[in-house]
Amino acid sequence: MANMKEIAKIAGVSLGTVSHVLNSSAPVREPLRKRVMDAVDALGYQPSQLARGLRRDKTNMIGMIIPDITNPFFPAVVRGAEDVAFANGYRLVLCNTDNDHAKEIVHLNELRTYLPSGLIVIPSSFSDLTAQAESYRKSGTAVVCVDRLPRDWNGDTVTADNENGAYEATNYVLRQGHKQLAMIMGPRHLTNAQNRVKGFRRALSERKMHIGPEYIQEASFDQHAGHSKTVLLLRMIPQPTVIFAGNDMIAFGALLAFREAGLRCPEDISLIGFDNLELAEMTSPPLSSVSQPGYQMGTAAARMLIDRVRGDDSPAKHIVLETALKIRDSVAPPRVTPARTAPATSRKRGKAL
Ligand code: RIB
Repeated sequence: MANMKEIAKIAGVSLGTVSHVLNSSAPVREPLRKRVMDAVDALGYQPSQLARGLRRDKTNMIGMIIPDITNPFFPAVVRGAEDVAFANGYRLVLCNTDNDHAKEIVHLNELRTYLPSGLIVIPSSFSDLTAQAESYRKSGTAVVCVDRLPRDWNGDTVTADNENGAYEATNYVLRQGHKQLAMIMGPRHLTNAQNRVKGFRRALSERKMHIGPEYIQEASFDQHAGHSKTVLLLRMIPQPTVIFAGNDMIAFGALLAFREAGLRCPEDISLIGFDNLELAEMTSPPLSSVSQPGYQMGTAAARMLIDRVRGDDSPAKHIVLETALKIRDSVAPPRVTPARTAPATSRKRGKAL
């Protein structure tokens, strides 16, 4: 690989002149600058970002850590962050934790050794990010937390208005006449899942409606958990007439469980999701869902981070983006005939939260 010495030799200038041209560290007369650039082209020289980073104690790299690369919500956030980072001369390096806080710690420790300009993190379920980020900040590396917040986090954040999104979706199904509601909430220690339950409960309590704790089930944010928790809810007496899924992946699992149980959606049972993934309009029936702006969460986080890198030292900022209810075909008024009853052998109570 070509190096700066060879460029200096071919251009017939000193190493210092090459360095000034490549790093814009001092003005260089045009004829000399051109000779250097011609030599760069002739040799196909690519400066080493790592060497440059070592000199400055920072590279132009932004680390981004996400919990589940297979869930289409997260790539949307990454895409937003990458667009802003790229446009501003930064390069994004992506790490996936599989929602495992031990893996998250490994990524956090290793990313630090690449001297990133900053980090954007969507924390895992039992994230230890608060402690880890402290040492990042001490070394002057900014950290922005997105979508869910780890315990005791006091830094910059970008989230969606989860509570209000869930509140509006719940009110919508209540207006359809549903009285027997259930929710599959997502992991209970995640702040976004908690806020979605808050919105759900607020809408119910405003109508003085109460549901048994067994009708709010906890599940990880994926289709397998959505499927198994729906199977459990369908065995309950009375059976719910609508399920609010904590995210669309859970809702996709619920649709499978409905189909296996011979239930038609929305004729026999209604369903609503959260995230409004592109896939939501391709399911049968197309899924009604609360849309949260994943792409915008990513762009906002990257802008916030780059501002910090460029010297913004104002107190921690918290951006909360609005959600919007996307109505499709998966919710209808409940049937007037009595709800399906479960066979006597399977009349179990689900584990309550
Ligand atoms: O689909 C993944 C879910 O987990 C989303 O709802 C998002 O908010 C994330 O935390």
